[in-house]
Amino acid sequence: MTAENQNIKIPTHVGLIMDGNGRWATQQGLPRLAGHKAGVENVKPTVLSAKKFGIKYLTFYAFSTENWKRPQDEVSWIMNLLSIFIDREVNNLNKEGVRILHIGHRERLGRELLKKIEDAIELTKNNTAITVQLGLDYGGRDEITQAVRKIVASGVSPEEVNEELISQNLYTAGIPDPDLIIRTSGEMRTSNFLIWQSAYAEWVFPETYWPDFTEEVFWQMLVEYSRRDRRFGGLSQS
Ligand code: FPP
Repeated sequence: MTAENQNIKIPTHVGLIMDGNGRWATQQGLPRLAGHKAGVENVKPTVLSAKKFGIKYLTFYAFSTENWKRPQDEVSWIMNLLSIFIDREVNNLNKEGVRILHIGHRERLGRELLKKIEDAIELTKNNTAITVQLGLDYGGRDEITQAVRKIVASGVSPEEVNEELISQNLYTAGIPDPDLIIRTSGEMRTSNFLIWQSAYAEWVFPETYWPDFTEEVFWQMLVEYSRRDRRFGGLSQS
């Protein structure tokens, strides 16, 4: 499985919508929350696969601005799982050269979780193997709204507002737009993920539930991506 032997184009930035944890659990006869546990367990292997493939940026959609509407026990469970994940894996990810970033609101996350995230960002800030953005309390519309607020507050004139200025005021400032977005479980919608940045992303929708998303499935998505003819509004290169 190397890019050379299959004529594979490796995307610079891949976004992942980790969907299907609950359905995976139900299928196994387990409670929904066990699905989220299995889902979180699959994050690190996916980071390592991405690094191996030569992907430079990986963005996980872990919790949306709308996911607060889920039952309180599910919300607490997910936050707790993420907290345990950071405790357990940050040093290993640091050794692997992973730079960790967060996209989303910070003020609504629990103080302890936020501190762990901030410490992880600080610890890994000089790493260069791969950048992993964790979308936590993230929503694309909310991100654009926050960007507009910042721009208005800065006092720029309407003529100075352009796409570049908006991009620079998003959580993802300085990060290249995603080339490929993978949403697992067969659902086909954006659910408010990177809606500005994904204007020209290729989307793929494997049927696989997130806990079953393996390196092999990931590779198949890169094969599918490589077949796509990206024109960015222009004409085909070939
Ligand atoms: C978007 O679907 C999907 C996500 C924001 C990821 C959902 C996953 C979790 C909340 C569980 C956390 C899992 C891990 C591995 C940390 P949506 O359900 O927000 O939107 P929809 O209603 O349009 O499907």
